[in-house]
Amino acid sequence: MLGQDVARVSGGLAMSRAELDVTDAAAVKDAIGPGDLVFNCAAWTNVDGAEEHEDEATRINAGGARNVAEAAGSVVYVSSDYVFDGSKGEPYAESDPTGPLSAYGRSKLAGELATAEANPRHFVVRSSWLFGAGGRNFVETMLGLGPEVRVVDDQVGCPTFTGHLAEALVELARTEDYGIHHMAASGQCSWFEFAREIFARAGVDTRVEPCTTEDFPRPAPRPAYSVMTSERGHSLPSWQEGLEAYLGVRV
Ligand SMILES: NC(=O)c1ccc[n+]([C@@H]2O[C@H](COP(=O)([O-])OP(=O)(O)OC[C@H]3O[C@@H](n4cnc5c(N)ncnc54)[C@H](OP(=O)(O)O)[C@@H]3O)[C@@H](O)[C@H]2O)c1
Repeated sequence: MLGQDVARVSGGLAMSRAELDVTDAAAVKDAIGPGDLVFNCAAWTNVDGAEEHEDEATRINAGGARNVAEAAGSVVYVSSDYVFDGSKGEPYAESDPTGPLSAYGRSKLAGELATAEANPRHFVVRSSWLFGAGGRNFVETMLGLGPEVRVVDDQVGCPTFTGHLAEALVELARTEDYGIHHMAASGQCSWFEFAREIFARAGVDTRVEPCTTEDFPRPAPRPAYSVMTSERGHSLPSWQEGLEAYLGVRV
């Protein structure tokens, strides 16, 4: 999902998993040259599935990340708000301590560290709750559901449009401002509030009821509050603007 927008915005060469498996170190070395800037958007992204397959998730999210960072001249590693435990109660900045709750979060944190170790010219960019064209996402899931839905109201975050994130990533990669960066949409909402806005803006007459995480047990624990802020001055458009932009480009 994100990779397609980054390829479009950067005008760079995009490679699918079939074209380059990031866990194949030799293939990565062949494909990526020491002068290349690489946006590593490849990942195991099945958050619940990672609980039972943590080794495989880590092999891709951390081992693959190391391979890419070692081969590249400079690298952007896209990471996640799920590296935080969600107990802070106010927005997370770049310097806040991490504490992933889930296997996926641990694998992404391991990927951050592997990237930083392997290449000093790294940008580790944490984003959150992505939606965009070219991938399964929450907006499409909601719009595909029936006349009544229940959505959790006790997880709060920043739904971020991949089109906006891709522009910010490409801009950042023009600098030498290496290290950890937070880039998520401005504002905050729960999944329930996000769903309500999706139906309102799409003009779809679906009844949305709030529920709790306990009503909807999932294998992977999620942070209750993973809103991000940037002490490095990053500011993306609001999640409502992101939703509006996405509804305009989705097919
Ligand atoms: N989605 C979110 O809410 C969210 C939030 C924060 C951060 N992120 C991070 O943002 C980045 C992009 O996420 P996304 O939502 O665009 O995910 P996505 O749509 O699931 O894309 C991930 C891509 O990685 C590919 N991939 C998986 N294993 C690979 C391997 N071994 N070698 C090469 N490619 C491989 C997948 O290919 P296949 O489909 O063929 O497996 C897929 O094309 C990821 O790093 C993710 O962790 C996502």
